Amino acid sequence: MKDGRRVLVTGGCGFIGSNFILYLLRNRSDVRVINLDCLTYAGNRSNLLEAEGDPRYRFVLGDVRDSRLVNELAEEADVIVNFAAQTHVDRSLMDGASFIATNVHGVFVLLDALRRHKHIRKLVHISTDEVYGETSRDRPASESDPLRPRNPYAASKAGADLLCLSFHTAHGLPVVIVRPVNIVGPRQHPEKVVPLFVTSALQDLPLPVYGDGRQVRDWLYVEDFCRALELIIEQGEPGQVYNVAGDNPQENIHLAESILDILGKPRSLIRLVPDRPGHDRSYALEAAKVRRLGWSPEVDFRAALERTVAWYRDNAWWWRAIYDDPAFRAYYRQQYGSRLAQGVPYRS
Ligand code: DAU
Repeated sequence: MKDGRRVLVTGGCGFIGSNFILYLLRNRSDVRVINLDCLTYAGNRSNLLEAEGDPRYRFVLGDVRDSRLVNELAEEADVIVNFAAQTHVDRSLMDGASFIATNVHGVFVLLDALRRHKHIRKLVHISTDEVYGETSRDRPASESDPLRPRNPYAASKAGADLLCLSFHTAHGLPVVIVRPVNIVGPRQHPEKVVPLFVTSALQDLPLPVYGDGRQVRDWLYVEDFCRALELIIEQGEPGQVYNVAGDNPQENIHLAESILDILGKPRSLIRLVPDRPGHDRSYALEAAKVRRLGWSPEVDFRAALERTVAWYRDNAWWWRAIYDDPAFRAYYRQQYGSRLAQGVPYRS
């Protein structure tokens, strides 16, 4: 990305958003970043301790649905990157209302602001591989494939993608959609599978593997994703969608075993528990388009996992604060209480 850019990041206190802001500040001397975040349970200001005090960085507490505030901040931006979202599939199955509010209405507010602020060069919207529904290595989804989301989270993201494309078609707005696979790295909330398994293992708690554990996810290291994003911000074409794959397909059970091996913990911590309703068996993307821009992943799966595990081991203060939060404890009980009681040990 060119230096001198003014970037409005929405949802910058979350996992990928915070990693992206830190990446920009480390690699682009003249960039200015405004981070608009409303600090839900998954947004954590301490993710950006390293950025606080940097004159190139400004945090604004607020909601992406606040159109007055978004329009005010849009005045100061050349590029908008939208990470603001409710992202956890299991929570969308418990109560989907906030997913529609943030993931759909929030995107509408951004698009409407883009319409009014013609100086903005691009809105890059972060979507997900889940919008395609179940896909597999032998039939990976390409960008032009139909959207067949199978859970409320994925459906809200698909709705937002269609809104973006409609604003491009109808108003010629410079919107670009990015659909990544599963991202792994530091600072991800421990509701998600990798940090949940790592922090559970560190506490000698059971690792709840859904169903038979043979579901497949494709994993990409967060820094590799940040590099792809930087390229798409500069070179991505308005109205286009870019899949970003890791080519690192892993069964969940193998993920659990690898984490335990890295930490030197016994595999007897694994429990096979009742499955997630509507659980997509696998995701796989065809990502030739972003590769044509000159991108490819650099960190292989084992290295990505080792770096991630090391970060959680070295930053116990970060995730312990979340485990100490009564709201997380209530979520954990609701999500895993009876599941773990019904769980069975896994024999490899
Ligand atoms: O594919 C991209 C998507 O990846 C993103 O759009 C989502 O925001 C992100 O949450 C992630 O969705 P997943 O459903 O794949 O992530 P999650 O970490 O919830 O689960 C990954 C896999 O691990 C999935 O097959 C379900 C399984 N799992 C998950 C949890 C939380 C378990 O077996 N046990 C668990 O306790």
